[in-house]
Amino acid sequence: MRIIQTPDYNGMSIEVARIIAAQLSLKPDCVLGLATGSTPTLAYQYLSEWGNQWLDFSKATSVNLDEYRGLPKDHEQSYHYFMQKHLFQNVPIRPNRTFLPDGMEPDIERACQDYDDVIRYVGGIDLQLLGLGHNGHIGFNEPDTCFAKGTHCVDLSEQTIQANKRFFQSEDDVPRQAYTMGIKNILSARRILIAVSGKDKAHIVKEAFFGPVTPQVPASILQFHQDATLVADKDALSECEGLLP
Ligand code: GLP
Repeated sequence: MRIIQTPDYNGMSIEVARIIAAQLSLKPDCVLGLATGSTPTLAYQYLSEWGNQWLDFSKATSVNLDEYRGLPKDHEQSYHYFMQKHLFQNVPIRPNRTFLPDGMEPDIERACQDYDDVIRYVGGIDLQLLGLGHNGHIGFNEPDTCFAKGTHCVDLSEQTIQANKRFFQSEDDVPRQAYTMGIKNILSARRILIAVSGKDKAHIVKEAFFGPVTPQVPASILQFHQDATLVADKDALSECEGLLP
C-alpha cells in the first residue's frame, strides 16, 4: 500500500482530487467508484472547480458505494442527494452514467443483484475512492466474520448510527439499514484510493493498515490489494509514527 501523508485536511483533499483528475485525464471514459461522508466533500469541491475549467467528466461513469435503505433520492440525507449536491450537478457528467444502489427497492435480493449487474455492465471500477468508518468500515461493510460478499443489505452498527446521527434531525431518523457494495466489489476495483483525515481516525488507521487483516476490521483487507493508495493527513497518521516507510 502506498501512503501519502499531507499536512492537513485541505492537503489531503487536493491530493485525492489530483489522483482522481489524473485517472480521468488518462482515461476519460473511466469508471469512478465514489464515496460519501464528510471526508471527500472538499475533494469534490476541487473536482467541481476543475470540471468547469479543464477536467472532462463528459465521458465518465460513476458507481457509488452505498445508499441508505428506505430513503428516497430527494431526501436531503440520501447519498443520491449528497452526490448531486457535491459533484454531479456541478460537472457535465451524464446523469444516466451515475449509479447508486436504489434505496427504495424493497426487494433486498433484487436491489443487490441489480447493483452487482450495474458494476458488471459498466465494465468494473477503474478507481474506487473510500472513506474510513471509526470501526474500520468501508462503504457500509461493518465488522463481520467474512470478507467475501457482493452488494448486500446491512444492519448498521450502533457505532455507525451514532457517527451518522449528526446529519439527521434526531437519532430516530437515522436509517437502520443500507445497501452497500461488498468487499468483493471493492477489492475488484483496479485501483483503490483511501482518504482519511483527523485525530479521531488515528486509532483505526493504525489498526486497519498496520494491524492484522481480519473481517472484524473490514478496511484491513485493503493491505492485500495490489494497487491501493492511502492519502491521510498528519492527524490521521499520528499513531503510526515509526511504522511509516
Ligand atoms: C459513512 C459512509 C462511508 C464513509 C464513512 C466515514 O457511514 N457509509 O462510506 O466513508 O461513514 O464517514 P466520514 O467521512 O464522514 O467520517
